[in-house]
Amino acid sequence: MSARRRLGGPWRRHRPLRTRLALAASAAVALVAVGISAGAFLVIRYELYHQLDLNLTQSATLVTQQNRDEGPGIVAGECRFLSAPACAQIVPADPADDPARPYLLPVSAPVREVAADERAPYFTNVELFGRPARMLTTDFGEGRALQVALRADTVEKGVRQAAWLLAGASGAGVLLAAGLGYWVSRTGLAPVARLTATAERIAATRDPRHRIELPAGPPGREDEVTRLGAAFNTMLGELEQSVAAQRRLVADASHELRTPLTALRTNAELLARADRLTEAQRERASGALARQLREVTGMVNDLIELARDEEPHPLLEEVRLAPLVEHCVEAARAHWPGTEFTLYVEDAAARLAFPGVPSRLSRLLTNLLDNAAKFSPAGTAVEVALTTGELTVRDHGAGIAEEDLPYVFDRFYRAESARALPGSGLGLAMARQIARAHGAELAAEGAQGGGALFRLTLPPETDTSAAG
Ligand SMILES: Nc1ncnc2c1ncn2[C@@H]1O[C@H](COP(=O)(O)OP(=O)(O)O)[C@@H](O)[C@H]1O
Ligand SMILES: [Mg+2]
Repeated sequence: MSARRRLGGPWRRHRPLRTRLALAASAAVALVAVGISAGAFLVIRYELYHQLDLNLTQSATLVTQQNRDEGPGIVAGECRFLSAPACAQIVPADPADDPARPYLLPVSAPVREVAADERAPYFTNVELFGRPARMLTTDFGEGRALQVALRADTVEKGVRQAAWLLAGASGAGVLLAAGLGYWVSRTGLAPVARLTATAERIAATRDPRHRIELPAGPPGREDEVTRLGAAFNTMLGELEQSVAAQRRLVADASHELRTPLTALRTNAELLARADRLTEAQRERASGALARQLREVTGMVNDLIELARDEEPHPLLEEVRLAPLVEHCVEAARAHWPGTEFTLYVEDAAARLAFPGVPSRLSRLLTNLLDNAAKFSPAGTAVEVALTTGELTVRDHGAGIAEEDLPYVFDRFYRAESARALPGSGLGLAMARQIARAHGAELAAEGAQGGGALFRLTLPPETDTSAAG
């Protein structure tokens, strides 16, 4: 791993989003501020020197006019003082032609080249009497160069001042940018911080009753963070509901299991002292034990199914209803030989199909068929009918009493008259749950002429023309 990755990792990971955003925003603004300042500085410096260079050019013209015929040497030497005119000297191309007196301005190889016409005129910054100066070296004709210099103190000072000013301004800009960036990310991310705090509180307390406070605003015009918060709240609501449902199920289940378990234990304890029982007592106790065990097993199995159904089913497929109903009725006939099952499928309903989970739908129907067989006297018929809109199961038993009707779909509810028969009271709860998960509705009513009638209203989008 490279050193850069190692440095980059913690930088990204350990800084809060707020700081990272603030840093990014202020870095961007700072970059712009520094860039503009640097640009301004270059322009100002160019302008100041340009002005000085124009003055130098003018001076050079003047000196040329006045000293056309002068030989090599100093022609004007007053530039020692700040506001004095330019100082000037003439330099020959050949150092052999130099005058005896030393030059005032520095003479280098390029100056000789200008004199020899081998180089274009040029400007340089030089030092004169320990002071900054600007010098123009230009052609003077006849193998000579003219050097003109002016004090550049004011220009240098101006440039320095500009540099300080701009540096100060961009420094302040950077600071301001950092402050603003921090403020913007703070206020901008405040809702995210609230969301995070709520999520952390829920994670710590495992209590999904918390909600995120959302700013009141016109609906439909919320920002992304508010929408995220709203979605989070919706999710929490669903989580709360499902947690509550699970808790209720567990509470109901443990309550309902207590009685049969106590009976089981009593019988088991009784059998443990089998030596003191008569043959008949022993037989009764072991028979009861076996029955109770079966009951508890059945109830636990139903409970597991009921709880499992809360999970989402990803395995939806196009279910053709008629064959499924036929199959279930066939199975019920085998299971309840004393009961006659009749099946009527309307022609138009023969091709009914809708998306669902076949095993769950079979379970729904089986529960209804089992109830019908269980709660009606032997030899009577159970009538199953499938039409385009609904599936009905009707029996000729005692039916459901008016006062029980509202409760038969409740978990563990069993009518007074049903308690002698085996069952857990979970069958109809499961059936209704499966129906609703498929967008259908299951209802119970008293059938005309006696008996119970269960009506499964199919979802309206059911397809009546399934192929195949
Ligand atoms: N076909 C029916 N005829 C009369 N009563 C019924 C019928 N189906 C259900 N019930 C009543 O509804 C109650 C709940 O049914 P269910 O949830 O299947 O429990 P279980 O079958 O285990 O008793 C039954 O105990 C019974 O009182
Ligand atoms: Mg049942």
